Amino acid sequence: FLALAAASGLTTACGTAPPEPDPAPPVDVGTPLRVPPLLHPDPGPDGVRHYELTLQAGETEILPGKQTPTWGFNGPFLGPTLRAARGDRVRMSIRNTLGEASTVHWHGLRLPAAMDGGPHRPVDPGAEWTPEWEIDQPAATAWYHPHPHGKTSLHLYHGLAGVFVIDDGPDAGLPSEYGVDDVPLILQDKMFAEDGSFSGDPLKGPFGILGDHVLVNGVYDPGFAVLTERVRFRVLNASNARMYTLELSDRRHFQVVGNDRGLLGTPAEVDQVPLTPGERVEIVVAFTPGEQVVLRTVDNGLDIGKGDFDLLRLVTASELRPTPAPGEQIVPFTAITPAADARVRHFTLNARDSINGRTMDMARIDEVVPTGAVEIWEVENSASSHNFHIHEVSFQILDVAGTPPPAHSAGYKDTVFVPTRSTVRLAVQFGRYADPGAPYMYHCHLLRHEDAGMMGQFVIVEPGTEDTVSRTLLLAH
Ligand code: C2O
Ligand code: CU
Repeated sequence: FLALAAASGLTTACGTAPPEPDPAPPVDVGTPLRVPPLLHPDPGPDGVRHYELTLQAGETEILPGKQTPTWGFNGPFLGPTLRAARGDRVRMSIRNTLGEASTVHWHGLRLPAAMDGGPHRPVDPGAEWTPEWEIDQPAATAWYHPHPHGKTSLHLYHGLAGVFVIDDGPDAGLPSEYGVDDVPLILQDKMFAEDGSFSGDPLKGPFGILGDHVLVNGVYDPGFAVLTERVRFRVLNASNARMYTLELSDRRHFQVVGNDRGLLGTPAEVDQVPLTPGERVEIVVAFTPGEQVVLRTVDNGLDIGKGDFDLLRLVTASELRPTPAPGEQIVPFTAITPAADARVRHFTLNARDSINGRTMDMARIDEVVPTGAVEIWEVENSASSHNFHIHEVSFQILDVAGTPPPAHSAGYKDTVFVPTRSTVRLAVQFGRYADPGAPYMYHCHLLRHEDAGMMGQFVIVEPGTEDTVSRTLLLAH
């Protein structure tokens, strides 16, 4: 039968149809990596791209033979990759079929505060919310996740997270074929009970969850078939608290080409890159035919970065499609430069539940910022492990404990690791959407700390009106 099949194949190839190139050789990768489906709807007659996202509960086989109760968008676990370009008008129809209220926050998106999906925008079970805005920011790997007051850690731990890719005109030929040489990797660490359900309390102990299984796109111990000479990975840390130190198992060098909020001007060559919760990094890895190498994380000695874990086995085909190397200049890059008299604000991260000695209060506005401002935010970590995320803005790290950042983290960001007992200074670029009644958040993105109240609120207002803004919000309920 095999001989017959081969013979008939030969006959076809010699017949009238032109010979087809050999299909890519099959690559055995073990459990295959799941690549989240792409959601990129065409613009409707009104010119708006209309995305539909349903929060739902389901079950996923993560460990062999066991069903894990999970939550996802448009599926049982995690969410599709949303794609939009600068200048697009987008409308999101958010439907919640869970048994409890949630929210959807666009982490890394520049948009009006009313569309931001923070704790002030709960979507009740059975309800729908349809934010709409125009994409107006450089190409980046952003993401989306719930942000319900005090419950973000639980909703993320159940699996509500997805990647949001922003395109913006040409770059220097970075790999861009989705799922082939441009691949999102969502990292989440989990603990499992005997019956396969997620265990551990995201609100307990100093950090909540520090799991002993790391999933990539919801898959445990996955492999990926590499078919091209270079692959760009958009890595998102969607973990509750774990910090990763990414490297390749043979310690080969790779290139960092993007940070949270955009592409770097020039690729930065590294052999390791750190990633704390909420951060994203875009990397380009070069491969040779017929090899296997593992993307892994190694123990960095910190309480949130303990342990070595293999993340993704990369198995290359015996022939690889050529991919050009990233150019010397990826995109033109403009630094965020505060004026000499720029406003400086100081934030101290205390213990695990407050900033500047205050715990999050939904009714309190902590900071008022004029539109378009470029400010210096100094974030001091007085204890424990923390990072710091600011909604809406894009920032650059000026220095960490007085030292300028390495090239691989010198780009546009929105989340930054703040080492214990040190200060990080940020040059922060605010947007132009003014709304004195709708706050944005800033907080530690270790979700146990965020939920405990290590969070504050700011509003962006018309310049000159700062002193007239009420510091007390009338809450809807
Ligand atoms: Cu990723 Cu305020 O969140
Ligand atoms: Cu923290």
